[in-house]
This record gives sequence, C-alpha cells and structure tokens, in this order.
Amino acid sequence: MDEERRQGYLSAMGITLWEPRCAAVSGGEAAPVEPHESSPIGVQAVADERMIALDQSSERSHPEPAGLSGVASMDWDALAAAVDSCRDCGLCESRTRTVFGIGARNAELLLIGEAPGADEDRLGEPFVGRAGQLLTPMLGAIGLSREQVYIANVLKCRPPGNRDPKSDEVQHCEGYLLRQVELIRPRIILAVGRIAAQNLLCSDETIGRLRGRWFAFGEASIPLRVTYHPAYLLRSPDQKAKAWEDLVEIRRRLNNIALA
Ligand code: URA
Repeated sequence: MDEERRQGYLSAMGITLWEPRCAAVSGGEAAPVEPHESSPIGVQAVADERMIALDQSSERSHPEPAGLSGVASMDWDALAAAVDSCRDCGLCESRTRTVFGIGARNAELLLIGEAPGADEDRLGEPFVGRAGQLLTPMLGAIGLSREQVYIANVLKCRPPGNRDPKSDEVQHCEGYLLRQVELIRPRIILAVGRIAAQNLLCSDETIGRLRGRWFAFGEASIPLRVTYHPAYLLRSPDQKAKAWEDLVEIRRRLNNIALA
C-alpha cells in the first residue's frame, strides 16, 4: 500500500501518525509458535520472542459444545444452514437475523469479535455498525480489505440490549465458530475485544494483560493475538495507538508468513 493511502487510513482511525517501533512491515523472522501447555479443546498458551506465556492459573477449559452434533464435519453450506436455523439457546427468540460471518473463506487472517449488535442483527453481517466503520479502516491501515479477511463473532445472534454473552450461549455457539476456524484454516486469528479474547483463550485475564502476546489456538496451534474492540476505541480514542501496535504486529507476522 502506498504511504499516502496508509496515512489516509490512519487519519480516518483518528491516529496521530508515528513510526512503528518494531519493524513490522519489513520485519525479521517471526518466532515459531511453540505449544506450551494445552487446554482441552481450545487454546495453547505460547511464548514468542517477547511474550509471556499465559498464566495457567487463569485458564478455564472449554466446555463441550452443546447441541451441535454433526457440526464438526459440516461443509460451508451445511454450516451456514445450521446457524440460520439454530434454536439451541434463547437468543433465537429475540434475534432478527443470525450473523454467520463474512469474508474470504481462505483468508489468512480471521477476526473474531463478540456478538452482533443492533445493526448486525438487522443486516445479518458482522461489524457493519459504528464499530465496523472503525474496524474497516483499521484493517485498511495494514493493507487489508474486509473482503481479504474473514470476520466472525463468538455468538451468531445478538444478545438483547447488547449485554455480554452468557456462558451457556457461548457454549451453544462454540461448535459453529470452531468449525469455521477449521474450514478457513487461517494463518492468524485476531481476537477483537475482551469478550472474544477471554472466551477464545478460556481466560479471566484483563484484555490489557492478554494483549501483546502470541497464543496458539486449537489443535492446529493457530497463532492468536488480542486487540481492543473498536467500540472501546470509539469511547477511548487514547487507546488507538495500542491497537495500532497490535495491527502492526499482525502485519509483521503476515509478512513473515508470506516470505517463508
Ligand atoms: N461488535 C462485535 O463484536 N461484533 C459485531 O459484529 C459488531 C459489533
């Protein structure tokens, strides 16, 4: 991406322009992601060159997904149909539409947010409201369009009033997301926001502590990184520089994958 365009995206994010401290765009070899310790079906905490391994004491294990027999072998069409007709938790009563996910089914980067909000519930597409309007230029700032990545959520249905997802809702929806991860086989997962991060990592740690580290997700040990939710950045614009650091690290790792 040319410099002028990059600066345009950054200024759309409201970020004061500065030079990244790490050599993200041209950077050196990414450290291999080596499993450290695994939890039953979800995450392995890993350390890379600068990262601290996840504190095992804060880990919970993923419960078995409920009511999702057959999901693990579904193809895209069957999975989309299963989500569309899902009535496994109470959210089906209040949803307008399910929000399956969107983007390239062979994307290198998979973004996972929390749950649909009002706009997403109405339109059936993730991150199309105000948060999405910030997320799109954030991606653009590292040279990625919405079409080049895949965007999904922990929950496929909107919790009423945008309340936090309940654990049984996450549990019921988990199989769908895990199957999407398997089908996409992304090179990197970006957990967007505290709720996504804590659920994907089975952790109670704050997002401040989960940021800045690489984790390995699932049996395929997919490198996973955490960043702030754009809705939070809209409320706390002073945190945008940290989100930019996260994105730069994602870009660095993608570049290294492309070079490998
Ligand atoms: N917030 C999310 O986490 N996901 C969406 O799809 C929209 C807002």
